[in-house]
Formats: sequence, structure tokens, C-alpha cells
Amino acid sequence: MKKMDSILRFLGLILLLMASLLCMAQAKVLHYDFVLKEAKFKKLCSTKSILTVNGTFPGPTIRVNKGDTAFVNVYNQGKYGVTIHWHGVKQPRNPWSDGPENITQCPIKPGKNFTQEIIFSDEEGTLWWHAHSDWTRATVHGAIIISPAPNTNYPFTKPYAEQTIILGEWYKGDVMAIINEALATGGDPNVSDAFTINGEPGDLYACSNATTYRLTVNQGKTYLLRIINSIMNEEQFFGIAKHKLTVVATDAAYTSQFTTDYLMISPGQTMDVLLTANQSAGRYYIVSTPFADTSAPFDNTTTTAILQYNSSKLPSSIPFPTLPTYNNKTAAENFTKRLRSLASNAHPVNVPQSITKRIFMTVSVNQIYCPNASCSGPAGNRLAASLNNISFQSPKIDILEAYYRGLPNVFTKDFPKQPPYYFNFTGTVGNNTIYPSLGTKALIVNYNDSVEIVFQGTNVGAAENHPMHLHGYSFYVVGTGSGNFNNKTDPKSYNLKDPPLVNTVGVPKNGWVTIRFIANNPGVWFMHCHLERHASWGMNTVLIVQNGSTNATSIRPPPKHMPPCS
Ligand code: C2O
Ligand code: CU
Repeated sequence: MKKMDSILRFLGLILLLMASLLCMAQAKVLHYDFVLKEAKFKKLCSTKSILTVNGTFPGPTIRVNKGDTAFVNVYNQGKYGVTIHWHGVKQPRNPWSDGPENITQCPIKPGKNFTQEIIFSDEEGTLWWHAHSDWTRATVHGAIIISPAPNTNYPFTKPYAEQTIILGEWYKGDVMAIINEALATGGDPNVSDAFTINGEPGDLYACSNATTYRLTVNQGKTYLLRIINSIMNEEQFFGIAKHKLTVVATDAAYTSQFTTDYLMISPGQTMDVLLTANQSAGRYYIVSTPFADTSAPFDNTTTTAILQYNSSKLPSSIPFPTLPTYNNKTAAENFTKRLRSLASNAHPVNVPQSITKRIFMTVSVNQIYCPNASCSGPAGNRLAASLNNISFQSPKIDILEAYYRGLPNVFTKDFPKQPPYYFNFTGTVGNNTIYPSLGTKALIVNYNDSVEIVFQGTNVGAAENHPMHLHGYSFYVVGTGSGNFNNKTDPKSYNLKDPPLVNTVGVPKNGWVTIRFIANNPGVWFMHCHLERHASWGMNTVLIVQNGSTNATSIRPPPKHMPPCS
């Protein structure tokens, strides 16, 4: 009897082994060609040439299953040097293909190409890719769809169909000229002229209603919408008239489901939502409009698409959803507060409970002094931005190359664990830290450190929400609050059970947010505000996670051909 038992157990083990081998064998390798080139589009009554991938706006979708690898050959046929980043893909041990310009590579020059290896690991859901050079991402971006691994399922009933919804924008001017002019004068860059849904501005803009994006649905069916905010500088409220949305994932990690009338989605974030076509056959507006609780200029227009039921006769009126007004901070927070990890057996959480590396980081908009008030920013100064009062200066050679080869004078390893001094960050700040110091400073972290970062928004310059993004990782958002962070009382409110797992988090205006993660991905990882004008002003730093003690815990060797820096 005993013998029989152990034979059975042995056979079971073999079966399990074969099954897992089969699973591994099923991880695919895919190939994509991305050709960066100019293409002409007619929007807002005029025709303009923009930089695209493969001539489309938004660009092509990358489709993989969890755990696959994609090789993307990027050919640059445009006029600027450009890089491409895979936003939210962790790229274990492979910072070489991450993409941020002068951080992990030098730009791909016009006429040249670079093959990037995109290694998917535990991501499942929706991410996106975008250019990561100056403001080129305004037109160079697209979706990444990561379906469950073969023989596994969504943690919800399989939807009837799915559709990607990319929130973007349109500038009448040339985006590179806009940021170059702003950086030359020190003032605020021009705002966009329209927002777009899947490349179309929609019915509220001139010359646009013929091409408004339409999502056709069958009555009674449930659809998975994969929503991406690829906008440069504005967070968005999103909703569909008379329809509820059920949030099931954000940043390619499943959430505990909740139903809502609207979303608040920041630049960089993605949200997967279920939509059931349970209203009378008709047409309903899909709307995205800014959440901008700020004194800075912003595009205050509204983009629309149409949810259209499959039916031969539809009423002519199209209801419009009621969304929170642009400065409704409470509505934004009420939405964000509801995000929780799914925390199931199949999708467990792993929140660090004790911390080995603690960082307190102020997030500020600043000024750089201009003699004779000769700049276009506040008080004739130049607008700047900082983390811990250091405004990041982009190096000439990428930091990854310099770190890997030990090249001197490219960056320093002394990004501080706290701001230069403490004051009432969210009150009347006076001239406290109004002027930042400049530097290319990296924050050094040991392999497997349990890292905690408290981001403290400040009232220096203009207070505003800041969607902070970290490359190479997703992190748990364990707590958030308004005012100054209190290190005695606030940690008591941390959620260490089912906090959301994200790659981009909003630091509330004049408030704080705490994130935690295990530094188990060695590499050089950019961290920055995903509001592009703040990143342009220096609201960035670099996290260097050092190698572990084995090859398997160290940065992989570089590919044969990295884009040369000179
Ligand atoms: Cu969406 Cu540094 O990236
Ligand atoms: Cu910001």
C-alpha cells in the first residue's frame, strides 16, 4: 500500500514537471519592426506632419502573453535622435533595452536602428510604449497588451470582446519646437489644442465630428476596455454616459473589482475596466476631460468618442456623462482611494513589512534665478523642478554605460535620502528651497533592499499633483494623505495587506504618498514625474540597484550593438 502511494506521488510529480515545462515552452518570442517616420494627418481643420511609428497615430499595438519576449527593431527614419521605452515592463536584469534617453542609452540617430529585447515577467494586463526623448512621446506611443499565459484565465468572466482606448492629444504646433522654446525662455510651454481618444479629438472640436472614434457594442455583452493615459501634462476624468465601469486592473496588475461612474487616470497610468452594454440601444458619449487642480496653464478642452449599440434604429440624441469639474480634488481622491490589489491565491501580494532603505523625497516646482528678470517664468526667473531640491541635469553619455564601465564625470552617487532641511512643506513656504541645486545624482540601493519612499508634495512654486513613475519596477502604494507627512502617526494608517501595485502614482497636491518595493531588479532605472513639462524641468532622478552576489542576480551583459553616444 505504502509503495503504491509513493509511486503515485512520484507519477504526480512527473506530471507536474511536464506541465510546467510545457508552460515554459509556451512562452513565445515575437518580433516587431518599428519605423520612426514623419506622416501627415488632418486634425482640427489643418494638415500637419508628425513623427510616428509605422505611419500611424497612435502607433502599433504590441500583443504578448504573460512571460513572452518581444524583439523590437527600431529604425529611425525621422529627423531627430529618438529612443523608445516600454512603460511598466520590468525588464528583469535588462536595463539595456529600457530606453530613456541618456539614462540607459544614447539616442538612435536618424538613419540608424537598434533592436530592443523586451522581457515580460509578471505583468498581466495593459501597458504602453512611448518615445523617451524630449517631447517626442506626444505622437510616438502605442499600447502593449499582455494576455494571461496560455492555459490560464482572467480573474473575471471572459469578456465578449476587448478594445484599447488611448487618451492622447493634438498640438497645432510642432511639439519639439514648443518644448525647445519653453526651455529657451524659461516660461511655461504652450498647452495642447485638443485631447484625443484613439487619435480622434471628437465632436466638441472644429472639423472633427466626421472622424470621431466609435466603439460598437452588442446589447447585453460585456467588454474589456484597456484605457491608457498617454497625455503629456494633464490628468483626466473619464466616463461613459449612463454606463458604469468596473475596474479590474491598473498598470498590468489585477485589482479588487469596484464599480464607478468615472475614472481619474494620470499620464503614464493604465486602467482595465469592464463595460456592460446594458442600456437601451442608442449612442452614448465616452468623455475624457482634465483634472487639473493647479494654477499652471492647462488645456481645458474635452475629448469625446461614441459608444454605439448595434441596432438598425437608434435615437438621435446622444446623452453626455456628468464628470467631476476640472479642479475637483475630492472626486479624484475618492476614486484613487478605492484602488486595491486583488490579493488572491493566483495573484498574491508581497508587500515589504520591514524596511532596509528609507527615503523621504520632496517633490517641488522651483525657479532658477535669471539676472535682470530676463526669463519668462515667475518673477522673471526660469521655471525648474526638483526632487529633494536637486534639479536633474541630463548627462551627455548614458548613466547605464558610465555605471557599467566605470566611466568618470558622468553622474555622482550622492542623491540624498532626505531634503536639505525641513520646513512646513505644504504651508506658507516663503523662499524655502525656491532655488534648487543642479546635478546628475543617482540614488544607490543594494540588491534586495526593502525600499520605502515617502514622496512629499510641496507648496514651493506651484503646488500640483505629480504622477511619479519608476522604471524597472512596480511598487505598492501603502499610504497617502494631505499636508506634511508625520513619521509617527501616518505609518499607522498604512495598508500592508492589499495595497495597489502600480508603476505610476499621483503625489497629491500639498500631500504625501508612501511606496514600498523589494529592489530585486539590478539596473539603472529612471524615476520621474510623468507630467512631461516637470520632467523637462528636472523632476527626475535615477535609482541604481546594485548587483547581487550571483550572475543570476546581476545586470545582464549588454547587447552587441547599443546606439553609440557620439
Ligand atoms: Cu512612461 Cu520614463 O516613462
Ligand atoms: Cu510633476
